[in-house]
Amino acid sequence: MKHIYLSLFLLMLGSMIQAQHSIIPMPVKYVPTEETFLLENHVDLDIQTDDKQVKQHVQLFAEFLTRTGIEVDYQKSEKSDKAISVHLNQSPRPELGEEGYTLEVNRNIIKVTANNAAGVFYSFQTLRQLLPPGFELRDKLENGAISISGCKILDYPRFSWRGLMLDVSRHFFTVDEVKAYIDKMAQYKFNVFHWHLTDDEGWRIEIKSLPKLTEVGAWRVERYGRFGENRIYPQPEEKATYGGYYTQEEIKDIIRYAANRNVTIVPEIDFPGHSMAALAAYPELSTQKEPKFVNPGSKFAEWYGNGKFKMLIENTLNPADKNVYDFVDKVFTEIAELFPGQYIHMGGDECYHGYWENDEIVQEFMKKNNIANSHELQSYFVKKVEKIISGKGKKMIGWDEILQGGLAEGAAVMSWQGMKGGIEATQMGHDVVMSPTTYAYLDYTQGDHSVENPIYNDLSLEKSYKFEPVPIEVDSKYILGGQGNLWTEAIPNLPFAFYMTYPRAFALSETLWSPKENKKWDDFIARTEIHFMRFDETKTNICKAVFDPSVKVYEESGKLMCELRNVVPETIIYYTINNTYPVQFGEKYSEPFEIPAGDLNLRTQTFRNNKPLGRELLIHRSELEKRAIK
Ligand code: ACM
Repeated sequence: MKHIYLSLFLLMLGSMIQAQHSIIPMPVKYVPTEETFLLENHVDLDIQTDDKQVKQHVQLFAEFLTRTGIEVDYQKSEKSDKAISVHLNQSPRPELGEEGYTLEVNRNIIKVTANNAAGVFYSFQTLRQLLPPGFELRDKLENGAISISGCKILDYPRFSWRGLMLDVSRHFFTVDEVKAYIDKMAQYKFNVFHWHLTDDEGWRIEIKSLPKLTEVGAWRVERYGRFGENRIYPQPEEKATYGGYYTQEEIKDIIRYAANRNVTIVPEIDFPGHSMAALAAYPELSTQKEPKFVNPGSKFAEWYGNGKFKMLIENTLNPADKNVYDFVDKVFTEIAELFPGQYIHMGGDECYHGYWENDEIVQEFMKKNNIANSHELQSYFVKKVEKIISGKGKKMIGWDEILQGGLAEGAAVMSWQGMKGGIEATQMGHDVVMSPTTYAYLDYTQGDHSVENPIYNDLSLEKSYKFEPVPIEVDSKYILGGQGNLWTEAIPNLPFAFYMTYPRAFALSETLWSPKENKKWDDFIARTEIHFMRFDETKTNICKAVFDPSVKVYEESGKLMCELRNVVPETIIYYTINNTYPVQFGEKYSEPFEIPAGDLNLRTQTFRNNKPLGRELLIHRSELEKRAIK
């Protein structure tokens, strides 16, 4: 079996642009050496520190090795002369910072040094990636040894906030699924798991002092079909059977699991908008106080573009009601006690002001408190929430709408509507996490609509890789880092969550970890291909849309023209426009061509070494016409 993987590996290496290694994210410095470490069926783990967290990380790595049939000893043994040795620096090496490491692969020893446990954890993730694809699949070591090419690596992250967000409201992921998501992101050196725990479609965290939040708010009627389009509203007497929530014990378990992978969890409780599930439990916290249901993905908003929208059902807390602040305080008291991290996310996005503007009590409240408009009213709410959160020893972060009407000192901003909110926030001296839709929205469609699920926007791997979190006009000291966001309106299970997250999360991880000057698309893509194999072998979904041709259609002098592009270098595109197939050895693409009138399809596919690489795209002329740039 191993030989098959090794041959496959060599075959792939031979057929594509040569990368020296397949590590993602790219290390700061990788120097190959002449030596080779032969990993046989026994290795000693020589741990030169008593640090408890290091021991946890070592144990995880030892479990990984043991799963693949390698025997591990925790001290120097007679069974072989091979060892992996781990040292914490006596006096910290400044360039390694909190999370950096060095890793040397020599003939008999693999040596790791770091200032802290986090660095040791990341050295193991790199070491895993130095093993050939196929390694993780083995349930026992077969005859022979795995050779690891000698190298000296120096590595540390560019940013301290390397995040992924998972929305568990629109789709409820079980504890094990959340752990699987965290485990994978940690392998790619992400260190912040932003947990979007509440929204209109479900409240997912137990708050002991407010039991209805989960008794009522965690459950909705089950609906299928496109989210936010024609899912019918809950019917009278219909039972809410879809959903779930995490008990506080489960939350603590996940926090521990994440900490063992150097991942800090930032919990998000989305206030004052996106609160329909909370209001289903406690309708008295809205202005209208009318009973409502947890939304099953039915349409209840009208979107007008340019960030303008109207909510047809009230989903906002009432900022003029003192009881709302008592409620918010209770929620954040328990959140602050549960989560050890520095930050609590309070949401703040897409808050509709119409119900506030039409409510007499709210209007009177605004007059009395000299609040000139609804933006200032939202700002009043956000500042009160900031006081509640900072009063519990935590820092508040929120989506960039929290800037509207003025932001409380000390609050950090997560810039999602492009980079402009983030830029503005840095100019006011706030810390910022960049997670713009344009580069970091992992729910967006990543390939051609003929083969991918089209949602409301697109984001290719190539575009994701162009993300630069520090715009030239800002002082980089305010940019904590960046984050990819996985909203799950159209993601009904974990395999598809992985499919949507990867490989774009590879691109983000490289942007957030590696030095800017180490980023090179052709090299990244070559390494990504090796990770496609790793995902396949561990039966984890990953999107390979990058192999498909990119199709652009435009009108020129009254003609419908088509331009094809191969995103992966060194591939050939074939196409047909006369309803024939196979595509291979049809027309080889060299320049834009006309799509003539008629009932015909464009068929196109990329090939490498005479083998299909991507999927065959099949697009009818009528669809091409719709796509045409005029
Ligand atoms: C968001 O995407 N509404 C933060």
